[in-house]
Amino acid sequence: MAMVSPATSESKLSQNRRAGAADRQPLDSIPARIVLAMQGVTKSYPNGRVALRGVDLIIPEGDFVFLVGPSGAGKSTVIKLLIRDELPTKGLVLLDGRDLGRLKRRDVPKIRRRIGVVFQDFKLLPNKTVRDNVGFALEVTGTRHRDIVPAVDRVLRVVGLTGQADQLPGQLSGGEQQRTAIARALVHNPRLFIADEPTGNLDPVISWEIIQLLLRINELGVTVLMATHNAEVVTAVRKRVVALENGRIVRDEVGAAYHRED
Ligand SMILES: Nc1ncnc2c1ncn2[C@@H]1O[C@H](COP(=O)(O)OP(=O)(O)O)[C@@H](O)[C@H]1O
Ligand SMILES: [Mg+2]
Repeated sequence: MAMVSPATSESKLSQNRRAGAADRQPLDSIPARIVLAMQGVTKSYPNGRVALRGVDLIIPEGDFVFLVGPSGAGKSTVIKLLIRDELPTKGLVLLDGRDLGRLKRRDVPKIRRRIGVVFQDFKLLPNKTVRDNVGFALEVTGTRHRDIVPAVDRVLRVVGLTGQADQLPGQLSGGEQQRTAIARALVHNPRLFIADEPTGNLDPVISWEIIQLLLRINELGVTVLMATHNAEVVTAVRKRVVALENGRIVRDEVGAAYHRED
């Protein structure tokens, strides 16, 4: 038994449960920790193009979110702001409560390690094996060799590529290349996993395998944000759908289809 004095958690919790008053928040509505928050975010590119207009978005820990919308809607811009490839023109982008816009340069790599990201075009190093593509991500952060090997083996098992560890990207199918990129993005144990059109270059069957993998990663406790216009997948999976149009969020629904259903 834990040592709990009568004045602590247990009794306070039951008081909370009894209190129906508006000044007490019911227990089942206390929000989970927020991994990501965007507040009033506007992004104009130097050529004057406005990609985002007053975007507000909150993603709690454990969520699985599809970011959908037509080409040019601003999906990749959201992702570039989250990985701090771009800075907002106006508004705040917070990761674990830290304002990415005010991050000191030397803190950027540390924050980036909390995010794993994959893209449509995989971005693998062509002259390195699967194992080395994944391990390289740890090498550059100064991880010791004897810690790299087991970490790489573990993520290759998660993505089902143990048998291809010594092949080069050019010797892999598209799906295997994307799974290599996913392994590389996971090897740091990120809190947030971001995928920008990860199935854009893959056929429908392989796309499904990738989605199943992302759902599994989410079940392992990682928050997932995936930009896509794969309507079939989004509608079948029934997760939270955030729809962008012309730089604005026009819909944010849990358990939703790709297109509005009313
Ligand atoms: N680096 C850039 N410079 C200028 N305009 C850009 C840049 N990146 C994106 N844009 C513009 O911003 C808008 C949103 O683009 P993007 O975020 O890539 O949308 P999506 O990923 O939904 O297709 C588009 O009009 C696009 O042309
Ligand atoms: Mg895009």
